Amino acid sequence: MRVEAPGKVNLFLSVGASGTDGYHQLTTVFQAVRLIETVTARRQSARDRGTVTLTLEEPDADVPTDASNLAVRAAELLAETTGVSEGVDLLLRKRVPVAGGMAGGSADAAATLVACNILWGTGLSLLELSALAARLGADVPFPLTGATAVGSGRGDLVTPIMTRGSYHWVFALAGEGLSTPAVFRRFDELTGTGAPAVRDVPEALTSALRAGDAPALAASLHNDLQAAALDLRPELAQVIAVAEEAGALRAIVSGSGPTIAALVENPAGAQRVSRALMASGLVADVLRADAPVAGARVVG
Ligand code: C5P
Repeated sequence: MRVEAPGKVNLFLSVGASGTDGYHQLTTVFQAVRLIETVTARRQSARDRGTVTLTLEEPDADVPTDASNLAVRAAELLAETTGVSEGVDLLLRKRVPVAGGMAGGSADAAATLVACNILWGTGLSLLELSALAARLGADVPFPLTGATAVGSGRGDLVTPIMTRGSYHWVFALAGEGLSTPAVFRRFDELTGTGAPAVRDVPEALTSALRAGDAPALAASLHNDLQAAALDLRPELAQVIAVAEEAGALRAIVSGSGPTIAALVENPAGAQRVSRALMASGLVADVLRADAPVAGARVVG
């Protein structure tokens, strides 16, 4: 059973106060991008039956393969909830930058829920899978739905929104990831005790998306975590400047960073911005992707 799920970029992220559970209230707009994680779930040989194993298609020291991997936890949570005891072998192909603020681990977990739900015949609905996804992490429900959606609550309450057309992104990758909790902590330090109120999604952003108007969307992009990410990684401000000087409509920190997401007008613009970023020596790698794309889907 092979399932694909996309990474995301936050077009808008307004962060409020943190609750007693340590999570912050937020309003965000997710867009699923064509950087695709693939999970292959296989039945186990009789010898291994009952365990959840994980193998990476390309080994990566930054991605654990034990029970701390969110995909393993997803399979275990589904098995526990439905009373399945047969286990599964998971194979993971990663294309979303690791610890980059693009929810690659969340996409893996979402794809694993879908794959195991079919492999094990547990028959959970999308709504039931979403509830399990929310228990795994705030960003896990979105890749089940994909496309473009508003996230509220902790980001886990997902409502699709209408968009037109296709958007072109260039992603500048940092050599080293940023920890999401660390970025939220710095956000708290920078905002002090005055708990900010969560803002609604601006009408200008939703109407830009409805019209398929990339320059208007660029003007509405916003990320409350950007100041915290830049405070932890000041060099990211230069990456943003390089992308915008090379013609990006706008460049912002993606989610909790450190990936910088540059919105460009068209593929030619993507090429110009990619070249400038690579030549700057400031980034570890550059990826291009269009958006939005569908959520988790079975491909084999
Ligand atoms: O839910 P997830 O495991 O992806 O969140 C990682 C961390 O990010 C949380 O432990 C928390 O520190 C922070 N976070 C937050 N508020 C949110 C989402 C995440 O503070 N709404």
